[in-house]
This record gives sequence, structure tokens and C-alpha cells, in this order.
Amino acid sequence: MSSVETYLKENPIWLAPMAGVNDAAFRVLCKEAGAGLTFTEMVSAKGLHYSSSNNNSRMLLKLAPEEVPVAVQIFGADPTIMASQARVLVEQLGNNLAFIDVNMGCPVPKVVNKGEGSALMRSSELAAEIIAAIVEAVGGLGTCVTAKFRRGWDEESENTVAFAQTLEAAGASALTVHGRFRSQFYRGVSERSVIARVKEHVAVPVIGSGDVLTAYDAVSMLVETGADGVMIARGAQGNPWIFTQSAELLSAYRTEQKLNPTVTLEEVSRATTLTTPTYRERFDMMRRHAQLIERYFGGKSLVRMRKHAIWYCAGLPGASFFRHEINSISSMEDLTKLIDAYDTYLSR
Ligand SMILES: Cc1cc2nc3c(=O)[nH]c(=O)nc-3n(C[C@H](O)[C@H](O)[C@H](O)COP(=O)(O)O)c2cc1C
Repeated sequence: MSSVETYLKENPIWLAPMAGVNDAAFRVLCKEAGAGLTFTEMVSAKGLHYSSSNNNSRMLLKLAPEEVPVAVQIFGADPTIMASQARVLVEQLGNNLAFIDVNMGCPVPKVVNKGEGSALMRSSELAAEIIAAIVEAVGGLGTCVTAKFRRGWDEESENTVAFAQTLEAAGASALTVHGRFRSQFYRGVSERSVIARVKEHVAVPVIGSGDVLTAYDAVSMLVETGADGVMIARGAQGNPWIFTQSAELLSAYRTEQKLNPTVTLEEVSRATTLTTPTYRERFDMMRRHAQLIERYFGGKSLVRMRKHAIWYCAGLPGASFFRHEINSISSMEDLTKLIDAYDTYLSR
């Protein structure tokens, strides 16, 4: 198993964990488009602990051969359960697992009301206990443990740097910071300076997250904060090309910097043409996405495709008609017919 540093050195632009979005089909497409690493959506450690072999939590752990290794994110608030389930994951997934990430940033009430997700930012001691317990359970097997958290619970209790240092001392191998408070959910701005501050105060790699919607956002996150990596979440929805574009821009920036260290990212960005998909390429990606869903989860799971299809068509003329029609698709045939009809409409 590689270290987190190795993954970051190879390619620092990663697909962020996203509940309800990151299944094996979507992750494969992002990996193919150039994501350095992908994450599962958050999986409940308690769900795994109390489950039969075939429940929802286990479905979330279905990995495809084309995408491994994948980082698995777990959440919970019980150090013993989290440690034992992390060990099971390491044993079951072997080399298909990149490392274990612990969610300490989820803002959703049904999660934080149980003391899980971002509620852990209000209980640093428990958060440290969780990291230490997981490290003890899996460290001997050569698996790294990382954590992803927010700027803090709310503005009055901002504790990003202290929390990061606590997790580092507990044994975390890398830290992802989303620059919003829990109280913001996804509103307002994700503050980059807080990511830079964490980077200055810990020795382990730091990955920046928040408001990365374009290739420019991804590369400027690295440049402005000094972070070792960047995660893309909403910017990848319906847009796996963001990974191709970010890699192109990062490569152009690094090349230009070698020639002229004073060149700015803005200048390089203006002079660089990035891969931009045509609407037909978007449709091809949509078809391929649906095929992968069918392959990994069966034809009945095509309903999963609805939201992705809407994202793929965002901004295209006539997208509102497509959005309406997509809700009635239940088979690959329906989807193909709808895409063909939309193609005919756009090519007129
Ligand atoms: C639909 C959705 C689901 C998410 N699920 C998770 C999750 O399971 N685990 C996690 O750590 N963060 C999750 N996040 C947060 C993202 O990983 C990311 O930190 C956040 O969206 C900020 O990045 P962005 O502004 O570039 O989208 C989710 C975000 C969205 C939009």
C-alpha cells in the first residue's frame, strides 16, 4: 500500500467524497478523466458493524476493478467500532484500498445529532481517540489513516488549526480541510486562508477542499494555500473533464514556472487552451455512465442516472425539457432514446 505522500506526488487532484454521488460508476469516469485518487462516499462504521453482508453500507463499498485503489471514508463516533470496522475493511479490500479516511465534516443533522461528522469538531478529545484507535488497529497492516473536517463548528468556536494539530498528534497521516463552518452547511464562501494556516502549522500533508468548480479553482487552491493536494466535489458533477482540465492547467503552470518563476497562474491560464467537451462528448459520457451503473449495480439501478444526466446537460439549450423527461426513464433503452432525441434537437 502506498503512502498518502506517494499518491499526492503522482497526482494531487482528487475526487472528494460525496454521499449519494460517488458510486463505482462515477468514480471510474473521474479516474479515467484524470483524478489522482477517488473516495467512496461516507460509510457508517456502525452500519457495517451491525449489518448483514448485503446492506446499504456494504453496497457503498462496491469497488470496480478499473478504479482501484480507492480511499474509503468512514464515519461514526465510537472509537472501538470504528477501529474494528477499519481493520475489517483493510483485511477485505487489501491492495484495492488506498487508505482509510475519517469523516469529521458532515453537517447533516441526523449525523451530528449522534455526535458524528462535524460534531466531532466540538469534541477534540474523542476525535483524537478515534484516530488513535484506528491507527492502532490498521497501522500495523501498513494502512494510513486520514481525516477530513471543516473550519470549525461555527464562527464563535473556530478551532481549525488546534483541531488539525490534535489529529496529527493522534496519528493522522494527512488532513483535508473544507474551509466552511458546520453552521454554513454549503452556503457562503469556503475560506482558503484557513487551509493555508493549517498547512503552516502541521507537518503532515494537507488537502484543500471547498468551492473548486473549475480547473483554475483547483490549481489556484494549490498555489494560494500551499496545500499538497486539492479535492474536487460539486465541480465534478456531470463534469469529469474538470480533472483533465486541472491536470492540463497544473502541468502548463509548472512548466512555465520553471522557465519564468514570476509568471502568474492567471497569465498561464489565459494562454492555455483546456480540453472542452462538445455536447456529443457529454452525451457519450452519459451513455457510458449509464452502462457502468448497469454493469455494477444492475438495470434496476438506472434511476441513479437521473441526477447525473441532469448535471451532464446543465447549460445546454433545451435542458429544461430534458430534465423533465429524464424522470420517466427506467431502462437503458429509454435513456438511449431520450439522448438520441435530444441530439437530434441540438443538431438542427
Ligand atoms: C452531495 C454532496 C455529498 C457530500 N458527501 C460528503 C461525504 O460523504 N463525505 C465528506 O467528507 N464530504 C462530503 N461532501 C463535502 C465535499 O467532499 C466537499 O468537501 C464540499 O462539497 C466542498 O467542496 P465544493 O465546494 O468544491 O463542492 C459532500 C458534498 C456534496 C455536495
